[in-house]
Amino acid sequence: MMAASAPPSLRNTLLSLLLLLVLAFSSPASGRPATFLQDFRITWADSHIKQIDRGRAIQLILDQSSGCGFASRRRYLFGKVSMKIKLIPGDSAGTVTAFYMNSDTDTIRDELDFEFLGNRTGQPYTVQTNIYAHGKGDREQRINLWFDPAADFHTYSILWNHHHIVFYVDQVPIRVYKNNEPKGIPYPKFQPMGVYSTLWEADDWATRGGLEKIDWSKAPFNAYYKDFDLEGCEVPGPRNCAPNPSNWWEGEAYQQLSPAEAQRYKWVRMNHMIYDYCSDRSRYPVVPPECVAGY
Ligand SMILES: *[C@@H]1O[C@H](CO)[C@@H](O)[C@H](O)[C@H]1NC(C)=O
Repeated sequence: MMAASAPPSLRNTLLSLLLLLVLAFSSPASGRPATFLQDFRITWADSHIKQIDRGRAIQLILDQSSGCGFASRRRYLFGKVSMKIKLIPGDSAGTVTAFYMNSDTDTIRDELDFEFLGNRTGQPYTVQTNIYAHGKGDREQRINLWFDPAADFHTYSILWNHHHIVFYVDQVPIRVYKNNEPKGIPYPKFQPMGVYSTLWEADDWATRGGLEKIDWSKAPFNAYYKDFDLEGCEVPGPRNCAPNPSNWWEGEAYQQLSPAEAQRYKWVRMNHMIYDYCSDRSRYPVVPPECVAGY
């Protein structure tokens, strides 16, 4: 309204100011998604990670000589990390592709894990998630995906803020770990975490509990990653990592699941969950406190 009634020169100034504002908000300085090398460095077997599409995507290779791995250049205290992954097609039994956050502290480790367990051709991949808080893990859950994760790229994300941790597959929550500190339940919140990924052979446990062995005649095994999107409070960094409004991942919309998300989460738990440590009475005769405290 104001621009319309103002003289043309002022109007132009206002319009260009508006344009500048729009540009400033739509393309943050970091420019997401990033190239692989902007966000990551290779930590294991240079020769087994190939950059493709001018560094915007990578190919991970597992063969009999080696697996491979990479890690973020920076560490974050809360935020949201996402990437698109296309898993090993065909016979991937015995292989594990992992995407995780880790505080890299031995004794009081915090860790948030996505692990993709390969399978024989035609058998479903299993996604295992786990959460370590203040050094204690053993909180495995497993789901079978509702699509073939090797046929195309899908987005896998971890949201971590002061209220909860949510694992997403294509915007569908597959796991929620609530901050129940008032009930004495440990919650990762003191240590920044890096973002990691590895591809390796784990045929002693991965597929049907180690019964299915890797078939090396099918090697090399290839997985692909792209659209790297790490947004969080960098440590060390200029930002205050407290739950303040400039940290968007702490905003109201991210403090609990939306009704639509809650519905999808329920659907996953009812139709796709194949293991939950919370209901494993032979392993935990006493129900772990975080399972009782609720999601
Ligand atoms: C592999 O396929 C079998 C048979 O469908 C299934 O029971 C299992 O959960 C799948 N995943 C793994 C990692 O073994």
